[in-house]
Amino acid sequence: MKSPKIMWHPETFTGKGFAVFEIRTLTPEEAPVLNNFLELIAQETPFTNEFAGQPEDVEKIREGLRKLPENLAIFWIGAFLGGELVGFLGAHGIASGRHPYFDHIYTFDLMILKKAWGKNLGSRLMEILDAQAAGRGIKRIEALVKEGNERALALYKKHGYQVEGTRRKSVRLNDKYIDEYYVAKLF
Ligand SMILES: CC(C)(COP(=O)(O)OP(=O)(O)OC[C@H]1O[C@@H](n2cnc3c(N)ncnc32)[C@H](O)[C@@H]1OP(=O)(O)O)[C@@H](O)C(=O)NCCC(=O)NCCS
Repeated sequence: MKSPKIMWHPETFTGKGFAVFEIRTLTPEEAPVLNNFLELIAQETPFTNEFAGQPEDVEKIREGLRKLPENLAIFWIGAFLGGELVGFLGAHGIASGRHPYFDHIYTFDLMILKKAWGKNLGSRLMEILDAQAAGRGIKRIEALVKEGNERALALYKKHGYQVEGTRRKSVRLNDKYIDEYYVAKLF
């Protein structure tokens, strides 16, 4: 991987409806805030891998945030609206620098609270992901999207992702089995 731009300096992004977001790297002190955000996301939507009532992991999150400056394979940023964390993008190299065959691949999690949907925040975070990936010499970004998540699929397609295949019956949701789509973008 190329030399990275490790931290994302605070930027102000004005989305649709003049919503003003602050987008920046999270600090270790914000671990409880991120933990609480993940719990809220789990309550709002089944489309991430967070689940309601999941065990609290504040210490693990704090450790992750503390290591961000030295961990070249991980990129986490938050988006704040009126001081509240409403969006999170977490990307990481799938090989984490440990396997030469896959060192060019990133995967990511993108999640935004409902109150901030439809304001172009998802689009802005995807642009930041591209910029970050380019700075690290990434050639492929990939993710899994759950069946029925039309909003995410539309966003990713708009940003150049293609559906490459289906991971069948990969998720058990409310006693039903659903598929996931493999999506990826090449650089
Ligand atoms: C998916 C998610 C990140 C999108 O964030 P967002 O801030 O609403 O995204 P944006 O406003 O930038 O763009 C959403 C796009 O989807 C479109 N869209 C919305 N609902 C849609 C639907 N039902 N079908 C098709 N397109 C849809 C919007 O029109 C918009 O496109 P446009 O900019 O061309 O108008 C957000 O909804 C989210 O966090 N959902 C819950 C968690 C999740 O699903 N994460 C992704 C896991 S793979």
